[in-house]
Amino acid sequence: MLQGKSILLGVSGGIAVYKAAELVRLFVKAGASVHVVMTANAQQFVTPLTFQALSNNPVGCDLFRMESESQISHIQKARLADLVVLAPTTANLMAKMAAGIADDYLTTILLATTAPVLVCPAMNVKMWEHPATQKNLRTLSELGYNIQPPASGFLACQEEGAGRLADLGDILESALRLLTPPTLAGRSVLVSAGPTREHFDPVRFLSNPSSGKMGYALARIAARRSAKVVLVSGPCSLEPPAQVERICVTSALEMREAIFEISAHQDAIIMTAAVSDYRPAQRSEHKVKKSGKEESLLLEPNPDILASLGERKPSGQVLVGFAAETENIVENAAEKLDRKNLDLIVANDVTRQGAGFGAETNAVKIIGRNAETSDLPLMTKDEVASQIWDRVEKLLWSRTQ
Ligand code: CTP
Repeated sequence: MLQGKSILLGVSGGIAVYKAAELVRLFVKAGASVHVVMTANAQQFVTPLTFQALSNNPVGCDLFRMESESQISHIQKARLADLVVLAPTTANLMAKMAAGIADDYLTTILLATTAPVLVCPAMNVKMWEHPATQKNLRTLSELGYNIQPPASGFLACQEEGAGRLADLGDILESALRLLTPPTLAGRSVLVSAGPTREHFDPVRFLSNPSSGKMGYALARIAARRSAKVVLVSGPCSLEPPAQVERICVTSALEMREAIFEISAHQDAIIMTAAVSDYRPAQRSEHKVKKSGKEESLLLEPNPDILASLGERKPSGQVLVGFAAETENIVENAAEKLDRKNLDLIVANDVTRQGAGFGAETNAVKIIGRNAETSDLPLMTKDEVASQIWDRVEKLLWSRTQ
């Protein structure tokens, strides 16, 4: 994900320094080359050796050490970075940055770099809420710094509130977003995901094993590309991706209502949801008791949300469907593309190992109206999502020319 990218991690002195060590591991695991620079106070919490061992690069500590300056100067470090991440950022460092002070290795680099900077504050809740810190925060935003707000919870100082270093996964996601070209900036997109549940009493329902992973990956990648993303999700156990508005629904009828309310304003809609084609004709208000005899359940058809979206598609909108198939993959998918008035259909063979329901990977064919087909090998769902957005972007681009 971060292959070929150089991240400069600036570490200032707070108890959350130990978490920065784990952050280095995450960045390195994602393929980035990481250079750490520590303030003098940060070195009181964790030694530079820890960061050197984890990053496999020398750690910048002292602006006036001839030896480290001759290897790679602070100006070179500022130039080399594709992204600067400050984690943790203390109240003191925020104040210095807001005032443009450059009195040590890290603050000097911060004035010299032209790379985007992600500020991840961590401190005591009272320090965070102090008007001076809040004023500095506003100044940093105005100066173009990107802020990863602290999380709330129990703090090292035994107080409760905002001030914990943000979740490391969220910091990684923000870093990815800052390093991804904003090819969907200014676009509104809607993705549906997960299964629907069709209840016949309060505790029983018809559903399917969709995990929601493909739809969540599409929402995550679109947000990374700076789209305004709404994710309409059936019940699943996944956390909403960062910078995505999630609307949770249960049944196909609820999903249709949520989607129809905003569908006309979307530049692109991708329906990955495994919508139940039928629902019980009746729903009991109370739990149905067993009778010990044979029972039958009368089903009635659910509306086809995607087909209705195809009928009411505004000009310029790109509409994408998914087709879970077990045979004649391309023929069946192409027929659905036509019947539902889609621009693209993503077909997958759900019987194939590593593809379809619940898997971390998928192998799909993306078919366009002119039968232009991308036959993708088995890859992660994030990679599949990137390929789908590439095709959608091409269509959006061609329509605005
Ligand atoms: N879909 C939908 N509403 C439904 C059923 C499906 O919007 N009631 C959408 C799915 O989100 C998917 C596409 O339609 O994008 C294809 O769904 P699929 O179940 O594979 O196809 P169907 O059209 O239902 O046809 P069949 O079940 O006969 O294969």
